[in-house]
Amino acid sequence: MELPPPRHLLDWQYLDDHIWNACLNRTLEHYRQGKNAYSHVARNRSLGLLFFNPSLRTRTSMELAAIQLGAHATTLVAGQGTWQIEWRDGVVMDGPEAEHIREAIGVLSQYYDALGVRVFASQTDYAQDRDDVLLHKIAQIATVPVINLESAFYHPCQALADAATIVDHLGGNLQGRRFVLSWAYHPRPLPMAVPNSALLMAARLGMEVVVTHPPGFELDEAVMERARCDATRQGGRVIVVHNQAEAFEGAEIVYAKAWASRLLYTHPEEEAKLRQQYRSWRVTPALMARTRQAAFMHCLPVRRNVVVDDAVLDSPQAIHLKEAAFRLYAQKAILEYVWHLPPFDR
Ligand code: CP
Repeated sequence: MELPPPRHLLDWQYLDDHIWNACLNRTLEHYRQGKNAYSHVARNRSLGLLFFNPSLRTRTSMELAAIQLGAHATTLVAGQGTWQIEWRDGVVMDGPEAEHIREAIGVLSQYYDALGVRVFASQTDYAQDRDDVLLHKIAQIATVPVINLESAFYHPCQALADAATIVDHLGGNLQGRRFVLSWAYHPRPLPMAVPNSALLMAARLGMEVVVTHPPGFELDEAVMERARCDATRQGGRVIVVHNQAEAFEGAEIVYAKAWASRLLYTHPEEEAKLRQQYRSWRVTPALMARTRQAAFMHCLPVRRNVVVDDAVLDSPQAIHLKEAAFRLYAQKAILEYVWHLPPFDR
């Protein structure tokens, strides 16, 4: 008998609204149970976590979520205690890489019941990053569910936690309520996974999504188009405003994030020069005063007084720590989903 394909979470775009809504509701249920709610629903299951990039929240919340469901979790940091991994096919492996991704994922699939993988953007090959080629390669090799712990273009675990944070903060009816995704200056050219996922998340909630950024920092057109379609389907809309102060008018959620210019993806020196021109794009108390007492969100880590002022982060309007707390509850819902556990067993 042929086995059904593993239930991956590569990004929410591949899953129907009813699964997204069920995961969102389940995240809120876990939140109501609190941070010390342990069960045995996933006993005898194991989760392997493979990080090609650093993490504080994703790693700890996913490990703890597995443990709280009764499962076992192991974290591997690629290249630190593992063999260096080769991604390319058909190469003569006579360099520093001693293990191919095909064997690494093939072997881990033999041991674990699901694999979480973090593999960021190359930031040198836009087409590869946009199509999440490395993550999809892992999903093709794996014989168990793969959970995207932040890929080149998407961060679905963060998106689910963010959605639950907003529902908890604003209540159920989010149609037409203003969510501002604000570009912010950062000394490094950051990837687009979080802004892409935050945009799609707010659109799927039916909010009025305002994306504000300086010229030259446009998000991927296909992602924008999908967000517009999702927002329209849910009774919301997506607009772009290049004036940050204007964008903040009437906002109920301000979500700050830095990202690199995709137009200068392969020209890092020119990209840095362009970015430098917009050092003043920082969330300040004056900007927040233009909002409707908006809550301030950020996925973290955040650079204080570069992306956002201390006075905003330390104010009652900042809900970034609660947002981070929701990561644990979202991870539990995601593990239940990929493992077909209740309420995802029907
Ligand atoms: N927001 C987030 O994914 O945090 P980490 O990079 O610390 O996991």
